[in-house]
Amino acid sequence: MKLQEIFRNIIANDSLHSRFLNTLSLMENTGARKISASEDKTKVSYIVLKHAAEEARHAFYLKKQIQKVGKIADFPTYENPYLIAPFASYTYLHTLDIQVCRYLKSSLKLSGSDLRYAAYLLVTYAIEVRADELYPAYQELLDEVSSKVNMKSIIVEEEGHLAEMISQLKEFSPEWETHAKIACDIEKTLFDQWIVSIGKELGVN
Ligand SMILES: [Fe+2]
Ligand SMILES: [Fe+2]
Repeated sequence: MKLQEIFRNIIANDSLHSRFLNTLSLMENTGARKISASEDKTKVSYIVLKHAAEEARHAFYLKKQIQKVGKIADFPTYENPYLIAPFASYTYLHTLDIQVCRYLKSSLKLSGSDLRYAAYLLVTYAIEVRADELYPAYQELLDEVSSKVNMKSIIVEEEGHLAEMISQLKEFSPEWETHAKIACDIEKTLFDQWIVSIGKELGVN
């Protein structure tokens, strides 16, 4: 099932749409927590701090958007009944992180804080590439039905994140594009699985 069809189905049903917003909120919050967890105790840059803060804001903003199509109180947590495709949504980022770490350990022999930082760069880069495709596609369909739900402030920040990740990756390695391509390939497999899980739950696969 195509992403567009999935979005159309979700947007057409307020209860599903609320659950979807809560699911995106969970995924943004997982991203924010991962960035914070990858931080060195002392060597934390302005860009990393900004990024962690903005991902946390996205999680909060998405949760707040629920009030445009439903009641936030009906989606109090990230527990299974309040999400779409909970398992795939919980594991998407963790699995990406694990697989990228495995690649970095074997190819660059990294460990400790160097490994954590390199994984932050590659995992976040792959997610930003995805976010720059996913949110605009979602916004286009929201506009189609004049939905009150709005992703524009997130889209602007995600574009900034991608540019920031590229500049940090360039500093990290002259071969950054090779590593980034591998991270994106891993991410694509996981994203495709997430979409299949969502399609199944919508009963339209
Ligand atoms: Fe985000
Ligand atoms: Fe981001």
